Amino acid sequence: MQQFLQNPVFTVISQSAEKLNTSVFVIGGFVRDIFLKRPNTDIDIVTLGSGIELAEKVARALSPNLTVSVFKNFGTAMFHYNGCDYEFVGARKESYVSTSRKPTVETGTLEDDQNRRDFTINALAISLNKESYGQLIDPFNGCADIERKIIRTPLNPDITFSDDPLRMMRAVRFAAQLGFTILPETFKAIIRNRQRLEIVSIERILDEFQKIMATPKPSTGLLLLDKARLLELFFPELAALKGVEVINGKGHKDVFYHTLEVLDNVAAKSDNVWLRWVALLHDIAKPRTKKFIEPIGWSFHGHEYLGSKMVASIFKRLRLPMNEKMRYVQKLVLLHLRPIVLIDDEVTDSAVRRLLFDAGDDIDDVMLLAHADITSKNEVKVQTFHKNFERVKEKLQEVEEKDALRNWQPPISGEEIMQTFNLQPSREVGLIKDAIREAILEGDIENSYEAARDFMIVKAQELGITK
Ligand code: CTP
Repeated sequence: MQQFLQNPVFTVISQSAEKLNTSVFVIGGFVRDIFLKRPNTDIDIVTLGSGIELAEKVARALSPNLTVSVFKNFGTAMFHYNGCDYEFVGARKESYVSTSRKPTVETGTLEDDQNRRDFTINALAISLNKESYGQLIDPFNGCADIERKIIRTPLNPDITFSDDPLRMMRAVRFAAQLGFTILPETFKAIIRNRQRLEIVSIERILDEFQKIMATPKPSTGLLLLDKARLLELFFPELAALKGVEVINGKGHKDVFYHTLEVLDNVAAKSDNVWLRWVALLHDIAKPRTKKFIEPIGWSFHGHEYLGSKMVASIFKRLRLPMNEKMRYVQKLVLLHLRPIVLIDDEVTDSAVRRLLFDAGDDIDDVMLLAHADITSKNEVKVQTFHKNFERVKEKLQEVEEKDALRNWQPPISGEEIMQTFNLQPSREVGLIKDAIREAILEGDIENSYEAARDFMIVKAQELGITK
């Protein structure tokens, strides 16, 4: 706290407000994070006067070249200084109508401004005024809630959530990020108001969801979303993974809980949020492919193909990027069973070569996912699996060193085939190219230019093509 009060920018803000004859406070997430000892570079300043006027005065006092971005419609202004974003706004009172997310905004007191905030831990303010500099204003016992690790709304939760239903997602996100508990009264209100999420844009919902996905143990937030019955509203495919069907005394794993375990396993090993999405979606088509076959039991045949097809429509609906990130998720969902299949079968060089060829640079992620996918209550089974998995990994390394197949480029181009045999672009060129690739993957020939060139001549003769 002392360190924060010595920040020279706060001194300038204090002096500028005094000159404008108004009051000023630092408020919200930044204050919360001082007590939580979390770094935060987004600093919200609230004044009882004009936020824009104050921001401009402070910026001029800090440096003549500082650019202030002004948002007249919102009555806010901000600037970036020494690695931090400072946002200035006049204290406000908001009133909502039930059909819209957009409030009617009026000028208010600091108390009004604190009342309209989402959680007690986010409603803390610190005075920057000369006579009370550094004093904490905590009308809802937010500090005690930080200590008790509690998420609670300042007002009646039905009002807070109905005013801005995104706050239901935020409650779960803060609980997951900070390891806090949502107060039972607050949680019940989320369940009561859950349908109001409908008026929130999918972009804002996903923003919170991605923050949950980025936490060290994403299952915590996902379980809460499910318990609050928010998940089914924007992610029905995921909610559909829940449940176990039993036929003739045979059940299958609950795919939802298995998915969460895999997701946590991946999260423990990697910060790559897209690999976490792969974990989330790897079994997404299991409900659609599920069949009971006597006497084998449950089958989910082809779920990796259908799952990989479902990725695009899910990404589109959730407004996730439809670019190489999506293609990466599609590819890994498609490949997720391949290392496991290798465990069951005799590990042949050619099967390993094919996996390496199909996965390319993503081979390490495919292996990490497959490893994370091994979940079972039977410890002996898990241990055996892990042991066999190590064998596959060793084999993979061996083949990689020998054959250099990662990011494989055909040693002979289509161009060269056409020139050698004086061919136009045609089916024959494709046949020769494919045959070379297959011969390398099968291990019939070496992965080298010379071997491929000799093989090309033989193959062309077989096809009745001569030079
Ligand atoms: N706020 C709110 N309701 C929202 C969003 C924000 O009341 N739906 C208030 C909270 O007081 C919050 C502040 O606005 O502390 C700033 O919001 P934001 O920057 O989104 O969140 P932070 O609390 O700073 O947390 P984070 O940076 O982790 O998003």
